[in-house]
This record gives sequence, C-alpha cells and structure tokens, in this order.
Amino acid sequence: MPLDQYNRDIDYLRISLTDACNLRCVYCMPEHMTFRPRDELLSDDELRRLITLFGSLGFRKIRFTGGEPTLRPALVDLVRHATHTPGITTVGLTTNGVLLDKLAQPLRDAGLQTVNISIDSLDEDKFRKLTRWGNLRDVRAGLDAAARAGLRVKLNAVVCRGVNDGDDVIELARLTLANPWQVRFIEQMPFGNNSDFQTKGMVSEAELLALLEKTFGPLELVNGGKLDGEARLYRLPGGAGAIGFISPVSAPFCAACNRMRLTADGVLRLCLLRDNEINLLNHLRGGASDAVIADCIRGAVHEKPWGHGLAQHLIPAARGMSQIGG
Ligand code: GTP
Ligand code: 5AD
Ligand code: SF4
Repeated sequence: MPLDQYNRDIDYLRISLTDACNLRCVYCMPEHMTFRPRDELLSDDELRRLITLFGSLGFRKIRFTGGEPTLRPALVDLVRHATHTPGITTVGLTTNGVLLDKLAQPLRDAGLQTVNISIDSLDEDKFRKLTRWGNLRDVRAGLDAAARAGLRVKLNAVVCRGVNDGDDVIELARLTLANPWQVRFIEQMPFGNNSDFQTKGMVSEAELLALLEKTFGPLELVNGGKLDGEARLYRLPGGAGAIGFISPVSAPFCAACNRMRLTADGVLRLCLLRDNEINLLNHLRGGASDAVIADCIRGAVHEKPWGHGLAQHLIPAARGMSQIGG
C-alpha cells in the first residue's frame, strides 16, 4: 500500500485524459481557451503503461477526468485497460455528460462502475448561462443512459452565488427523492486567474443545508457524518438517494485525502490545490525503465503535502481546474 509521510494510504489516482472541453463553465474556464496540442499529451500507450504501473504499486481506484474525458477517442479502451489491470478494483469517470448518451453502455461493457456528472441547474436557460452554451437536454439524455446501463450515478453541482443558489438547489435535491443517486453540492474553489470571481461566488455548506431544511424539513445525516469520499451525506425524508456536500473551503477534508492526480500532459500533481508537480512525461519519453518511474511515483507519494492552504490564502496559480482534472 502506498503510504505518504503522514501515513495516509494513497490508493486513488485521478487521470485527466485531456485539458480540452466542449463546454466553458464560468467557474472553470474563460470563454476563449487554448488547449494543448496532442503531442504534448500522454499517448494512449503511455497511459496504459502508467495505469499498469500504478496498479502494481498498490493503487486501487482510478477515475478518468478532463477537461472533458469523453472527447478522448480511446476512452472506452482506456477504461477497459484500467478495469483489467491487476490491483485496480474501481474505475470511475467524471464528465459533463454531453456525450454520455451513446457512450454509457459501451463504458459499462468495458467495466466502468461509477459516473459523476456535472449538472449545475435543471433550468435550461440557467444551465446554458453557467456552461456558456451547454444544452441541458444532452446531459439529461446522458444521465438517463448512465442509469439504464446500470452505472452508479453521482451528480455534481458547483453552487454560484446569485446564479444557482436558490430554486436550483431545491430542484436538484428533489431528484434524490425518487432516484438512488447522490446529488452533491460543491463549494467553489479559487484557482489561477479566476480566483477572485470564485472566492466571491462561493456558497457554503451551512447556507445550503439551512435552505434545504427550510424546504424539506430536517435532513437525516447518513453514516453519522463520516465522509463518503470527500462528501458529507444527508437524506431527504423518504428519499431514495442522498444529498452530499463537498466543502473544501468551509470544512477541508485533507486529513483523509487518498488522492494523487495525473494531468493530461503527464505531470503528477500531489494535491489539487498545491502547485507541487512531478513530470513523468519527461521520464517516459527519456526512455526510463518501469523501475525508475515506479521509484519516482513512490517518492511523489511520500512527498504529498499535508493539505491545501486556502485558509492561508495560498491560491494555486499554475493551472486552472480543467488543466488538472478536478
Ligand atoms: P468519488 O469520491 O470517486 O465519487 O469521486 P470524487 O467526488 O472525488 O470526484 P469528482 O470528480 O466527482 O469530484 C467532485 C468535486 O470534488 C470536484 O469539484 C473536485 O474538484 C472536488 N475534489 C475532488 N478531489 C478533491 C481533492 O482532493 N481536494 C479538493 N479540495 N477537492 C476535490
Ligand atoms: N470549484 C469547485 N469545483 C469545480 N469544478 C470545476 N471548477 C470548479 C471550482 N472552481 C467541478 C466541476 C466538476 C468537477 C470535476 O469539478 O463542476 O463537477
Ligand atoms: Fe468543462 Fe467540466 Fe470545466 Fe465545465 S467544469 S468547462 S464541463 S471541464
């Protein structure tokens, strides 16, 4: 098992397959973005090699992220490779859902278990405003296809003050009455050149809980408040699913963090919100052996920082969210 210097078991790798996206969510990217050329990204073969190596080092869970991972032509093959990798027991995908309608079943057939879909509002106009041009109907079709294919579904909503912090929250929460999904409300995190906007727009877990309890009555705390991943879970009275709060700003969960990140350009990022990075692409393209790369990964795990420094106003500047993979 890969333990870091604080004795945390680091067994969850988030792999960003591309920095490109077919949307431009206002809290994530500016409208005009330049994406990395293909040859600067890890190739499919390089990804397969690294996935096998991480499996052999004791990593158990892989989640593919982006940008938007469904834009990567080899996504289904890479999922199949990951689900067949010795040591890897869980493979998930985080997506905006726009292209999921046709992909959900092939992904399930390749062994994918869970899908986390971003959906910030159930109102078509507001959804478009938040994503700049997204069509809510595409995402709903993707969500339906994921549920039909038998994938475990979580929905992610980043709440932005004055935009989707009222009825939108209530309508998203209502989805958990009849569906066995987790609907998770995420506090906006400050990143790179967008940090001022994100800090001002953040809506806290406490505010949202109060709003939901005013509408639905007291929510039942699930698991005595023990986190599921990084989400604290509640249930609406009579609800089939759960409501989660991911609150990295008001209630950091770094003490229990079990994650590392691999960016699309082949860099290991030790914490979402710290700019410490280790370049694996250079090793791969410089002809390093598996043993050398494995040592490099073990060293990186050891050096994982204790946590983010948002309380000390240490805002990461090197990359935006879409260039890390969330
Ligand atoms: P599972 O627990 O496997 O379901 O996935 P997840 O919740 O880790 O993944 P997802 O991609 O759905 O992420 C949801 C939100 O949590 C995103 O806004 C992420 O940026 C945020 N998040 C995920 N991991 C971390 C982390 O290590 N630190 C912080 N601060 N936020 C994270
Ligand atoms: N703060 C919090 N979450 C964010 N995401 C994108 N940008 C931010 C931000 N600034 C979320 C997306 C997606 C996940 C991968 O990250 O909505 O659900
Ligand atoms: Fe694309 Fe996800 Fe960023 Fe939205 S949050 S622009 S869907 S990468």
